[in-house]
Amino acid sequence: MQNVLITGGAGFIGSNFVLYLLATQPDVHLVNLDALTYAGCMQNLDNITDENRYEFIKGSILNQPLLDRIFQEHRIDTVVHFAAETHVDRSIYDPRIFLDTNITGTYTLLEAARNAWLDQQWVPLQGCRFHQISTDEVYGTLAPNDPPFFEAQAYAPRSPYSASKASADHFVRAFGNTYGLPFTISNCSNNYGPRQYPEKLIPLIALNAVGGKTLPVYGDGLQIRDWIYVEDHCRAVLDILTRGQPGSTYNIGGGNQPTNLEIVQHICSILDELQPDPTNHSYADRIEFVIDRRGHDRRYAMDTSMIEIELEWKPRETLDSGLRKTIQWYLEHPEWVAAVKMRPDYQEWIALNYQERGGLA
Ligand code: NAD
Ligand code: TYD
Repeated sequence: MQNVLITGGAGFIGSNFVLYLLATQPDVHLVNLDALTYAGCMQNLDNITDENRYEFIKGSILNQPLLDRIFQEHRIDTVVHFAAETHVDRSIYDPRIFLDTNITGTYTLLEAARNAWLDQQWVPLQGCRFHQISTDEVYGTLAPNDPPFFEAQAYAPRSPYSASKASADHFVRAFGNTYGLPFTISNCSNNYGPRQYPEKLIPLIALNAVGGKTLPVYGDGLQIRDWIYVEDHCRAVLDILTRGQPGSTYNIGGGNQPTNLEIVQHICSILDELQPDPTNHSYADRIEFVIDRRGHDRRYAMDTSMIEIELEWKPRETLDSGLRKTIQWYLEHPEWVAAVKMRPDYQEWIALNYQERGGLA
């Protein structure tokens, strides 16, 4: 791994991964390709000083000539593919862009990798690797007593978002099987941490709380997610890149399965301690149950024994330590928060989603 192309590196997990790789891999050169959609933010990359090891390119994974040029000019040997449309609620309103970015975009990137890495006999360049960042949501939903998702589980996506990610994963495997393209895939559970766009549950609740707003919990709030701190995810991806078996899939998860309501209450109790509400009420008093998401997956849980045994990876953060770090980060970065909140695309989205939720929030 010498010249790494990271797609979507201005988004939440991608920017954390760029910073993690620069901090831990002194010999690696990075190219960060990001289209800077509503979810991409240059401020996420403000702290980068290693300009001789890092280059940002604004552009789309749908642009095949641009991709071919990047592979050639930068002699890319590793791709870590984060770029995607990622929000389930948005995929319910308007699935089209999820097909374009997540399916066609991944396909276009695979073609560029094939062009650059396979010779005329389809023998791949030594040491090249395409790593696909995927999600636990491709496996579908679990009943209360079902065992957690494992790697060989059949895909059963249920939202437009997860269907598009599942399709992209299938294309990655198809390029491996058909053309011999060396790949790995990781399916990770719900991430949280610094720089997450506040359309997702954890930053939305924390920022609504300190912003004096109500805290919208969808449906009965008893849905279950497995939450992982973003840096634990980044470390797992690096472990897979450096020591994972080509052609393998690895599940990554945080080992927590709280209900959404418990997560919201946990955020409130940390905020009650770190920055008490001026009215002296607990933030939890502002929890409001709102109209549920359509087709809402009830439960996700991950069996991570494969990565734990094979690569000796384990999450380091507990839910409490990770949430504290995350909330602290948002409290300490009011300028980041203000910049996102000022954006018309953010305001538009919040208004639209609140309307769909019955206007209660
Ligand atoms: P994000 O929405 O914060 O960021 C996505 C990034 O992709 C943005 O910077 C955006 O500008 C960029 N992008 C979108 N379309 C593009 C295009 N056509 N060309 C280039 N760049 C484009 O996403 P995230 O939450 O950081 O998720 C990153 C990846 O991890 C995604 O593939 C997602 O499916 C996967 N994932 C996310 C989670 C999670 O909890 N957030 C969990 C598991 C897997
Ligand atoms: P989200 O952060 O959107 O991630 P995902 O849908 O990929 O799991 O949502 C996490 C859970 O929180 C999901 O069950 C929906 C729920 N949720 C709320 O209850 N209220 C909210 O305001 C949001 C954004 C999500």
